[in-house]
Amino acid sequence: MIQKKYQVTIIGSGNWGSVAAKLIASNTLKLNSFHDEVRMWVFEETLPNGEKLTDIINKTNENVKYLPGITLGSNVVADPDLEHAVKDANMLVFVTPHQFMEGICKRLVGKIKGDAEAISLIKGMEVNPEGPQMISSLISKQLGVNCCVLMGANIANEIALQKFSEATVGYKEDEEVAQRWVQIFGTPYFHVSAVRDVEGVELCGTLKNVVAIAAGFVDGLEMGNNTKAAIMRIGLNEMKAFSKLMFPSVCDNTFFESCGVADLITTCLGGRNRKVADAFARSGGKRSFHELEAELLHGQKLQGVSTAEEVYEVLRQRGWQESFPLFKTVHEICVGRLPPSAIVQQSGNATQIPVYGRL
Ligand SMILES: NC(=O)c1ccc[n+]([C@@H]2O[C@H](COP(=O)([O-])OP(=O)(O)OC[C@H]3O[C@@H](n4cnc5c(N)ncnc54)[C@H](O)[C@@H]3O)[C@@H](O)[C@H]2O)c1
Repeated sequence: MIQKKYQVTIIGSGNWGSVAAKLIASNTLKLNSFHDEVRMWVFEETLPNGEKLTDIINKTNENVKYLPGITLGSNVVADPDLEHAVKDANMLVFVTPHQFMEGICKRLVGKIKGDAEAISLIKGMEVNPEGPQMISSLISKQLGVNCCVLMGANIANEIALQKFSEATVGYKEDEEVAQRWVQIFGTPYFHVSAVRDVEGVELCGTLKNVVAIAAGFVDGLEMGNNTKAAIMRIGLNEMKAFSKLMFPSVCDNTFFESCGVADLITTCLGGRNRKVADAFARSGGKRSFHELEAELLHGQKLQGVSTAEEVYEVLRQRGWQESFPLFKTVHEICVGRLPPSAIVQQSGNATQIPVYGRL
């Protein structure tokens, strides 16, 4: 019997997308059931020297804009044509900032292979008048594919340097598919495990960015480690309560996986959301997040501010604001309704969540 061979395409080529390409490309070379080549769709950009980013990646094997100094692997092929990049793939890795996903999915309808499986590394959600939708379910619904997620304590630049870390794959039903994702992401320095809780894993990865903004405010106000730990604890509780209200099937244990408390810790200590929120608080809320993002992140995108807005919209639609003082206050600070110092004044005021119990 001829063994089925899997072809992987990565949709996205930012900081984390490029590291995902490096991890996967190192494995497809070693594993017989995967084609060596890993295609990476690149949102084309012209760099200051006039060269196209795709051409440079294919020439130098390095994403000079989003992951400078790291060799991706000679079997990574950058492709600026989205439809062309996916046409032969039966394993699709989605890893772009979440605000671009609706448009990307629309362009891909009817263009992917019938046996394709997907995984989302994207943190964020879409909030429509009908209610919130996780990115994995947007992908599943629009493209008619099964979609797992991979989240974890994963600051991309550290994994690019092959420093040990862990991640969690969340899946719905098919454990065999989840194990295939574990196989192509896992390396001796990147340990991946799978849990049957796709919503729990994805909500952990999404909501921790809001807590990281709160942690950045605390740093910017120089309030010290006890305060930051308190904000992280309150934030973790709100993450758990919100996730379980949205999806009662979410498991408590998921919060102890890499995607849960570990990702929360690393993001509150070192991530980009923390960094920009720190600068925002130091400016007394006078400089906008938009301006600070452009100045400090050089083309990388901030997720926490838009996620805070999406979460706030869900809280507003459902009348849950008073039960989630940290989530609510982060948004109100981001839009200038409250000063950064409100993060500590308001976050301790959690009241009862009627359907969940005390926070
Ligand atoms: N960087 C990390 O450490 C990290 C770790 C874990 C998860 N993530 C998540 O991975 C996802 C992708 O983040 P990243 O760090 O790879 O990206 P990034 O923020 O480094 O880069 C932004 C990317 O968006 C692309 N882009 C810009 N405009 C676009 C458009 N109109 N349409 C499509 N693409 C466009 C850029 O080309 C670039 O590839 C996010 O959801 C993020 O939360 C990031």
